[in-house]
Order: sequence, then C-alpha cells, then structure tokens
Amino acid sequence: MFKIVKKIALAPQIKRIEVEAPEIAKKAKPGQFVILRVDEKGERFPLTIVDTDTENGTITLVFLEVGTSTKKLGLLNEGDYILDVVGPLGNPTEIKKYGVVCCIGGGVGVAALYPVVRAFKKVNNYVISIIGARTSSLLILEDEIRKYSDEIYITTDDGSKGYKGFTTDVLKKLLQEGKHIDLVYAVGPAIMMKVVADITRPYKIKTIVSLNPIMVDGTGMCGACRVRIGNEVKFACVDGPEFDAHLVDWNELLARLKMYREEEQLSLKLFEERMKMRGESK
Ligand code: FAD
Ligand code: FES
Ligand code: MG
Repeated sequence: MFKIVKKIALAPQIKRIEVEAPEIAKKAKPGQFVILRVDEKGERFPLTIVDTDTENGTITLVFLEVGTSTKKLGLLNEGDYILDVVGPLGNPTEIKKYGVVCCIGGGVGVAALYPVVRAFKKVNNYVISIIGARTSSLLILEDEIRKYSDEIYITTDDGSKGYKGFTTDVLKKLLQEGKHIDLVYAVGPAIMMKVVADITRPYKIKTIVSLNPIMVDGTGMCGACRVRIGNEVKFACVDGPEFDAHLVDWNELLARLKMYREEEQLSLKLFEERMKMRGESK
C-alpha cells in the first residue's frame, strides 16, 4: 500500500500527487515510470516518475484524468492509499552533453518532459523547451521548465497563451530560421511525436521520443506494449520507452492505442454511473 502524502490540482483534470515509495524514490532516474493499480478491482497502468524526494521517500506523479483508472486515482485524497506502485520501470534517458537540445512536450507529456529538461541542463546542454497545451488552463509546469531552459516557447491550440498553434509549428519555424539543434527530445500525444519525427527527418537531427503504448505488466511478458522500431519488434516497457523517432512505425502505434476504445468508453460510462449513484445515495 502506497500513501498519497500530497495532492494538488494543476489544471482541470490534471492532478499532481506525491506518493510514499522510498525504494522507488531511491532508484528512479529521468525517463522512468511506475505501473499502478488503484485498488483490487483496478487495471494496471503506467505513469511517469516526474520527481523524487529521497529524504522524504516520495515520488511525484502528474496525471490527466482521461478514463476509469486515472479518474479513480484522481478521487483519492491526501492520506489515502494506492494498492500497487511498481517501479522504477523502463530505461532511463541517456543524459549527456549533446550541445543544443530541443525538448518538446505536449499536454500532460510536459510533466514527463520536466525531469529530462532538468537533467539535460544539469550537464550543461543549451536547452530550448517548447511546451504546449490545448488551452492556457491546461498548460502545466511552465515555471519549473522555464527554470532549466535557456529558451522557452509556449503554444496553445486556441492562442489563449503564447503562440497560437502546435509545438511542432515552433520547431518547424526554428529549423527554417536556421537554428542549430543537436538533439530533439519529444514526449506527448503520439501524433505530436510523429509530426516531430517528420519535421526533423530531412534535417537528420537525432530525435528521441518517449512512447506511450498500452502497457499492462511492464516487465516484457504480456506483449501489450509491442512497437515496431525499424524492422524489429520491441517492447516499450523493457526496451524503451524511448526510441529513435525516425525508426518508429507510427501508424501501427496510433492504431494500437485505439484498440480498446469501445471497452474503455463502456468502462468509463459504468464508472460514472456508479459514482453518480453513490453520490445520490449519500
Ligand atoms: P482509458 O479510458 O482506459 O484509456 C484512455 C487512453 O489511454 C486509451 O485509449 C489508450 O490510448 C491509453 N491507455 C489506456 N490504458 C492504458 C495502459 N494500460 N497503458 C498505457 N496507455 C493506456 N499519462 C499521464 O497522465 N501522466 C503520465 O505521466 C503518463 N506517463 C505514461 C508513461 C508511459 C510509459 C506510458 C506508456 C503512458 C503514460 N501515460 C501517462 C498514459 C496513461 O498510462 C494513460 O492515460 C492511462 O493508462 C489511461 O487509463 P484510463 O483507464 O484512465 O483511461
Ligand atoms: Fe507487457 Fe510491455 S507492458 S510487455
Ligand atoms: Mg483504462
């Protein structure tokens, strides 16, 4: 059982929680994740380790409430317990001095980007961060990312803050203007990462993406997170989650992410009905 010691709402439906998990806090490195199960009836699902506090023995998770499991987690409060938290899982990000590193985060992917931005800066890279959200109220961790960035660009789809448009529009513009970039690192919706790969490919800029396929066991046994990288089949949980963006079979990844959409929607409908009935019976 893992206690939630702190909970903050960063945006509507985006929560930041600190969870007591001293062993994970000790070992976790940027780029790694945990797999959680909220209660005995819950499914297993992954969340990135956004921060650690080894003194207090806690890890920080940031999540967007999209479906049953994340909404269930969002209902827990400070002092409540999560049944299982397994990790750290996945390979850490390769942190070294590349020169100019452009870090791109979209939506809740900005949370996963934060520890990587900080680590790249700590080894003296020149860090350009491009972070975006649908609208300004959904933009998270701007100050934290700004602190470790030499340049920061904000985008919103609706223009309510920063550039009106996508993170990828800014990347395209910077490259067209002749900006020198040694490495691009992107994390966010699969479609954003695919576009990043398409933009950097002709410039031959090394591009790393943190993939988000469906994961169940997180140990390479179940095959749920199968992705095609070049001509090889890889399991994102043990071989990734980071891969060379130019080798990812994006169409397969996008299709597999939608595989259980009907079941997910049905599960959410039943969950919301149960919550409503519980509220009415109080
Ligand atoms: P559902 O309605 O069940 O699913 C909504 C969508 O989420 C699905 O269509 C599918 O695309 C995806 N999804 C569903 N189940 C899983 C699963 N078991 N594994 C992965 N994706 C799934 N989200 C965050 O908000 N914050 C994070 O830090 C974060 N880190 C992640 C790190 C990794 C390595 C991966 C693979 C995913 C990460 N995600 C993160 C995505 C998060 O796991 C999904 O949003 C969550 O599982 C959705 O579950 P649900 O039951 O709430 O929604
Ligand atoms: Fe099961 Fe990766 S999540 S093999
Ligand atoms: Mg689910």
